[in-house]
Amino acid sequence: MLLDRSVLLTLGGLCSTHAFAIPPRKGTALSKIGTQEHLFPFLGGAAPYFSYPGSYGIPIGPPSHCELQQIQLLARHGERYPTKSSGKKLMKTWNKLKEYPHSFNGSLSFINDDYEFFVRENENLEMETSLKNSVNALNPYSGEMDAKRHAQQFLALYEGFLEGNREFAVFASSSERVHDTAEFFIESLGDKFQVSLQVVSEDPSAGANTLSAGYACPAWDPDAYTEIIGNYSTKYLTDIAERLNNENRGLNLTESDANNLFSWCAYELNAQGYSDMCDVFTMEELIHYSYNDDLSSYYQDGPGYSMIQAVGANYFNASLKLLKESDRLDQKVWLSFTHDTDILNYLTTVGLFDDGHKLNATYVPFRNHVFHKSWIIPQGARVYTQKFQCDNESYVRYVVNDAVIPLESCSEGPGFSCKAENFYKYAGERLAGQNFLEACNTSSVSNNTELTFFWDWKSAHYNASLLNE
Ligand SMILES: *[C@@H]1O[C@H](CO)[C@@H](O)[C@H](O)[C@H]1NC(C)=O
Ligand SMILES: *[C@@H]1O[C@H](CO)[C@@H](O)[C@H](O)[C@H]1NC(C)=O
Ligand SMILES: *[C@@H]1O[C@H](CO)[C@@H](O)[C@H](O)[C@H]1NC(C)=O
Ligand SMILES: *[C@@H]1O[C@H](CO)[C@@H](O)[C@H](O)[C@H]1NC(C)=O
Ligand SMILES: *[C@@H]1O[C@H](CO)[C@@H](O)[C@H](O)[C@H]1NC(C)=O
Ligand SMILES: *[C@@H]1O[C@H](CO)[C@@H](O)[C@H](O)[C@H]1NC(C)=O
Ligand SMILES: *[C@@H]1O[C@H](CO)[C@@H](O)[C@H](O)[C@H]1NC(C)=O
Ligand SMILES: *[C@@H]1O[C@H](CO)[C@@H](O)[C@H](O)[C@H]1NC(C)=O
Ligand SMILES: *[C@@H]1O[C@H](CO)[C@@H](O)[C@H](O)[C@H]1NC(C)=O
Repeated sequence: MLLDRSVLLTLGGLCSTHAFAIPPRKGTALSKIGTQEHLFPFLGGAAPYFSYPGSYGIPIGPPSHCELQQIQLLARHGERYPTKSSGKKLMKTWNKLKEYPHSFNGSLSFINDDYEFFVRENENLEMETSLKNSVNALNPYSGEMDAKRHAQQFLALYEGFLEGNREFAVFASSSERVHDTAEFFIESLGDKFQVSLQVVSEDPSAGANTLSAGYACPAWDPDAYTEIIGNYSTKYLTDIAERLNNENRGLNLTESDANNLFSWCAYELNAQGYSDMCDVFTMEELIHYSYNDDLSSYYQDGPGYSMIQAVGANYFNASLKLLKESDRLDQKVWLSFTHDTDILNYLTTVGLFDDGHKLNATYVPFRNHVFHKSWIIPQGARVYTQKFQCDNESYVRYVVNDAVIPLESCSEGPGFSCKAENFYKYAGERLAGQNFLEACNTSSVSNNTELTFFWDWKSAHYNASLLNE
């Protein structure tokens, strides 16, 4: 960290129209920002963006003698404030702490020091963190900065290809933070590009014509595997609560308070750039939290729930169609923004993070564990599909959060890609028998039976009203 006090003052001055608070505790932000990034992979996908930690080292640019034919992106919105429901839970825990009549001992003692809860306005709940609404001017992890940085990396990586493809539509689901992420990204591409932002409804009534098939799936049951998920020992939570209660006589934190502290830590990082709450946990407790989150995602939105392969088929089917039509379609760049679970559903259908070992509540499977949810869909997650031609042959591969993730059964092509023909066969097998509309009972909420927005946006003009969710 090379910033010094004069830089802090300059930043404060530059941005004075946004009424930034200079961090109340002198120097805290400066000394803490950047020191907590090793915790991001353990915060259940709620922490700021980080590159996939298990990279195999394969360069992410198209192999040298190959020419790009199509790029697809399915990205998550960027760093954000808690949702309304999570905000309510955090507020409950904060009220307990606020009303504690003594000063705190131990890891909570930072609260004695004029601590101010990081959700300053309720209207920030659900929203992308930005330069404007961040808790301090130095936050390097705002969703706004992340999206703008991502766009610059995109420009640098695909420079040559983009020269001939400066005009395209970008698709965003109709959640406000998703829309905002797409706008920040587009803004950062600069005015050489003519981009048409299409806002696709994520209301259940959108049916199959959506980036968020999970919302149009009334048959989806988050409790389908509660018996498995519920068997993971929550001793790590009672340990935290007991430790804090013992340090502070009369404090009555519960197991669910302890659980809330993890998302407190994550979202405060998104809004402020650091969080003293993150220092409450031991690494062992963070590992338990992270695995507990993997386990519930795996059985609610991932490979552990058989219905999910059908949910993700809605987008994967469209993605496959775009790949097959790459020569015919004028548009070569297909960028879409949506929610974490939608990306997870899709990757479940692709089968990219399923090694066949079912996650188990009785132990942490350290060796056989490819399903690290937070590695796959952190805030600002980005899943690219690259199609390129080398000599006379076309190839397809995936780049997830800055790492090439080859298909286990098909990686003999350049850059560990899969020959297009073989990829289509593989995809066909993953999609076989997967019927989104039937599995989800979608007809009870919508009559839309097909994802068409990629093909009809010019005539349909997608401009759904933004939802604060
Ligand atoms: C499907 O929707 C109909 C109409 O709302 C409902 O009666 C039926 O129980 C649903 N079936 C499932 C499996 O959810
Ligand atoms: C743990 O698993 C057993 C056996 O499947 C089941 O009976 C029990 O309800 C589960 N416990 C919880 C808390 O879900
Ligand atoms: C804080 O710790 C000190 C020293 O161990 C102890 O005397 C005091 O009672 C503690 N305060 C509370 C509120 O637990
Ligand atoms: C904590 O709970 C105990 C027992 O339930 C109660 O006596 C005590 O007043 C509570 N303390 C606070 C600070 O709420
Ligand atoms: C895939 O899309 C085609 C139309 O392009 C549709 O006929 C088919 O049912 C879809 N399959 C799945 C699995 O969604
Ligand atoms: C978890 O592992 C135990 C012990 O190996 C086994 O009995 C149990 O069936 C497994 N549970 C699941 C859900 O696979
Ligand atoms: C590429 O295709 C053309 C026309 O089908 C053929 O003449 C040529 O030999 C092929 N080149 C390679 C390297 O396969
Ligand atoms: C589907 O279309 C029928 C006939 O137009 C209509 O009566 C029904 O309300 C629609 N259902 C939904 C869920 O939109
Ligand atoms: C979307 O565009 C249509 C046609 O231009 C217009 O009638 C409608 O009001 C617009 N909807 C929203 C939410 O802006």
